[in-house]
Amino acid sequence: MTHPSLCKNFSGLLHGGDYNPEQWTPEIWADDDVLMPEARFSAVTLGVFSWVSLEPEEGQYTFDWLDNRMDAQAKAGRIAILATPSAAMPAWMSKKYPEILRTWDDGVRHAHGRRVNYCWSSPVYKEKTATMARVLAERYKGHSALGMWHVSNELGGTCYCKLCQEAFREWLFDRYGSLHALNEAYWTAFWSHTFTDWEQLEIPNPIHGETSINGLTMDFRRFVSDQMVRFYRNEADQLRAVTPDIPITTNLMGTYPELDSRKIAPYLDVASWDSYPFFAGKPTELHSWRSASFCHDLTRGFKNKPFLLMECSPSSSNWYPVMGLKRPNMHILEGLQAIAHGADGVQYFQWRMGRGSSEQFHGAVVAHNQSADARVFKEVASLGNALQELESVAGTYTKSDVAIIYDWEQNWAIESVHAPRIDKRNYSLTVMDHYNVFWNAGISTDILGLSDDFSAYKLLVAPMAFMLDSATIDKLVAYVKNGGILVTSYWSGIVNESLLAYTGGGDPRWQDLLGLWNEEIDALYDDVKVDVLFNGRTFQARDLCELVVPKECEVLAEYGSEFYAGRPAVTRNLYGSGTAYYVASRNEEAFNREFLLGICMQHGIEPCVDGEWPEGVTVRQRGDYVFVLNCTPVEVEVRVTDSEFTSLVGPDFVGHVLKLPPFGTSVFQHAPSRVTVSI
Ligand code: GLA
Ligand code: ZN
Repeated sequence: MTHPSLCKNFSGLLHGGDYNPEQWTPEIWADDDVLMPEARFSAVTLGVFSWVSLEPEEGQYTFDWLDNRMDAQAKAGRIAILATPSAAMPAWMSKKYPEILRTWDDGVRHAHGRRVNYCWSSPVYKEKTATMARVLAERYKGHSALGMWHVSNELGGTCYCKLCQEAFREWLFDRYGSLHALNEAYWTAFWSHTFTDWEQLEIPNPIHGETSINGLTMDFRRFVSDQMVRFYRNEADQLRAVTPDIPITTNLMGTYPELDSRKIAPYLDVASWDSYPFFAGKPTELHSWRSASFCHDLTRGFKNKPFLLMECSPSSSNWYPVMGLKRPNMHILEGLQAIAHGADGVQYFQWRMGRGSSEQFHGAVVAHNQSADARVFKEVASLGNALQELESVAGTYTKSDVAIIYDWEQNWAIESVHAPRIDKRNYSLTVMDHYNVFWNAGISTDILGLSDDFSAYKLLVAPMAFMLDSATIDKLVAYVKNGGILVTSYWSGIVNESLLAYTGGGDPRWQDLLGLWNEEIDALYDDVKVDVLFNGRTFQARDLCELVVPKECEVLAEYGSEFYAGRPAVTRNLYGSGTAYYVASRNEEAFNREFLLGICMQHGIEPCVDGEWPEGVTVRQRGDYVFVLNCTPVEVEVRVTDSEFTSLVGPDFVGHVLKLPPFGTSVFQHAPSRVTVSI
């Protein structure tokens, strides 16, 4: 399947980054014009935090600098991704209209400063941001450099002000219509929390407010996410009205927990995200590479078409505790990994390292050394060359056989309730644990939400599907009935959309689907592990072990220790034309591998290339291209049963063996008759 180009006035794979000429002089702009072609830039993102340079006084616009830079891009054949500047308001504005400043959970309104510092509900900020979007669109409509709009920057955070409080009450009124319905949904007779007037409803607040109504906590998270979507749409509507032919995006943040990115996706033309995977550990750790690839798959799934890697660092970032440099090859690996997973472009934060303020030491294409001979600059240029080499991959999209559910609402629901291992809820980590099995095996996965259409996938993996509403239960039942294979786990189907528990061992349709009922769940201390006996081997469970009672299902594994030794740990239920598996405990990686790859083998789900893949080396097919990615700090040998590969980028096979250097990448145009392709 192919899709048209990501943006107007460009085809191929984009290569560019955040460009902040407002921080520099025209002499430096002239250097930029020389260096950008050397870095193989085909795009720049302009204007992200530039409000004060666009409107230094209320209603006084200064576009000269931006006109100059837009024209320079057009002249050089680069496209501009033009941002609205709403992620940081100018000081004159917050001084004049203090209501636009955000209030923190301690009830204190921010002083002016930092960024993403605005209130979501302020009518003044709503009007100011809409006006600025309209003015920008009017000025640059028809400009030949304008390729895409970038609304604001990294929408995030919560405001606790009176305006947001009022907006939350309205949101609740729209959802429930009556206090009776709300009280029922929230189980408020508990601790005498019944509401008798809408005015009594307050934003839940962990510092000095309500934390005990689970449904309210959950709804507030839904509301905050909806506020972000509304904020985005306010600007996007203006842009679309003036330039209907220019695609619009906003830079998302992978699994960032506060915004349900799937809710904003219908209003985006292109999904894009910012990837900084190395903050959670050393850049050399596999975890970083896995989580980046997971987020690529996640972002691709928002529109089911190619996405844009809007930001990554060409070198280190400045907000890690240890700002290690990217090792040689890592940069190209990071960029090509994004392409392999469906990106149609790689962009950076940022083009030129600033001399001052808090990001002065953040990696950039042009570092303080300002040299095109610098290592980082050269690696950026090599990636640019590779992207040109691979330009015909642009627009291609390969659907997977396997879908894994990652759902913001599940995460919020699990975090809203007080059970059963508060410090080890680990929804995201658990989903990632499942993802890793496929990642290592070279089996392509799509990441979906429970509201997405998963009917066409062979295998649906939905761990910890804690909160299931009635329609979703029906959808899962229909999926399996029609031949789908469902893998779900402990802590699934426990509550409805208001977080009210299902009684009687689970919703009857859920019990029928799984062929079991749910009795109770044990939480384990960190030093306790429980044996799980599966396929003649003993695996270990940690954190959570559920006790289920089989009705129709077969038992595939049993617990081997604790008072529940002998009770089912894994079950299988043949249902309609499909199969529903239930994994009752949180198991170690070796189990996940054995179990999930066993299911794949049984059901003809194969890696895209038949071969041996060392741990940390992944393979991914996109369109006609096969990407081999060595995410390890050591040289590896990759063997394939087929030797007819020709490398387009990176080292080649010698016979059946490919030697990849540390963090090396090779891209091949596959020989279709010899490669096993997953569709
Ligand atoms: C985010 C922002 C950028 C920059 C980078 C630094 O992604 O969008 O403006 O601050 O972080 O890593
Ligand atoms: Zn507010």
